[in-house]
Amino acid sequence: MTASVSQSIVESGQRAAERSDASAGGVAKKATFKVWRGDSNGGKLETYTTEVSEGMVVLDAIHQIQSESANDLAVRWNCKAGKCGSCSAEVNGMPKLMCMTRLNDLDLSEPVTVEPMRAFPPVRDLVTDVSWNFEVKKRITKFTPRAPDVADGTWRMDQADVDRVQEFRKCIECFLCQDVCHVLRDHNKHDSFIGPRFLTYTAALEMHPLDTVDRTAELKEAHGIGYCNITKCCTKVCPEGITITDNAIIPLKERVVDEHYDPLRALVRLFRRKSQ
Ligand code: SF4
Ligand code: SF4
Ligand code: FES
Repeated sequence: MTASVSQSIVESGQRAAERSDASAGGVAKKATFKVWRGDSNGGKLETYTTEVSEGMVVLDAIHQIQSESANDLAVRWNCKAGKCGSCSAEVNGMPKLMCMTRLNDLDLSEPVTVEPMRAFPPVRDLVTDVSWNFEVKKRITKFTPRAPDVADGTWRMDQADVDRVQEFRKCIECFLCQDVCHVLRDHNKHDSFIGPRFLTYTAALEMHPLDTVDRTAELKEAHGIGYCNITKCCTKVCPEGITITDNAIIPLKERVVDEHYDPLRALVRLFRRKSQ
């Protein structure tokens, strides 16, 4: 070990000791949380105060409130690492993963509100029923690869085509993008619009180098792509940083326009129908 490395380890150890002394001797910091409590029949915000410390995230505070004063508070979570997509909620009115929202980044001089996602029916407290999303996914035409390119059953693809869809695969199905989208959140178009998560999923299929299906008709009609007016709110809340609007939705809209609103293609379709 070099002198400078060992020196920096000693210094960082000293700093950690100083921080620990300060917290031991200092006054514990408290924060107030207004947490939505209720079920499908309605509910209201309840106020809880708990001790907070450096490094805590909103989910830690909720767990602390659960153990100290609200044993029956319902909250869904699994990984506490931003990877399972279970702990989605609205923190100070913004769709967030509770396990990735640091208290340091919030103004703790004011109460922090924690509410369930608004675009889906409440089950209890912070838990919502997101099963509509799983039904939507089933309605999207499945991946249909072309026949293998080579006799040994394998395919050949350009790396650029493979790379293009990788971004969409990062989705953790937290449904925060669905929650923030005004088409679902404010206009309740759940029957006629699949939402940004599933437009991204469709883009991954449509742009897949092996897929053979044209999903533009279902995008235009049953899946309601026309409702999206490219506000980009979905892209802003995505915890995986997927460029939902620019890389998924806009290219899909362009495909729909090319296929269904191009007068030349419309003429060709008409001619084909007549000659059948
Ligand atoms: S860009 Fe489209 S899908 Fe995304 S939030 Fe806005 S309207 Fe919804
Ligand atoms: S696209 Fe992003 S915000 Fe939407 S469900 Fe996937 S990870 Fe969550
Ligand atoms: S607990 Fe898994 S993403 Fe938050």
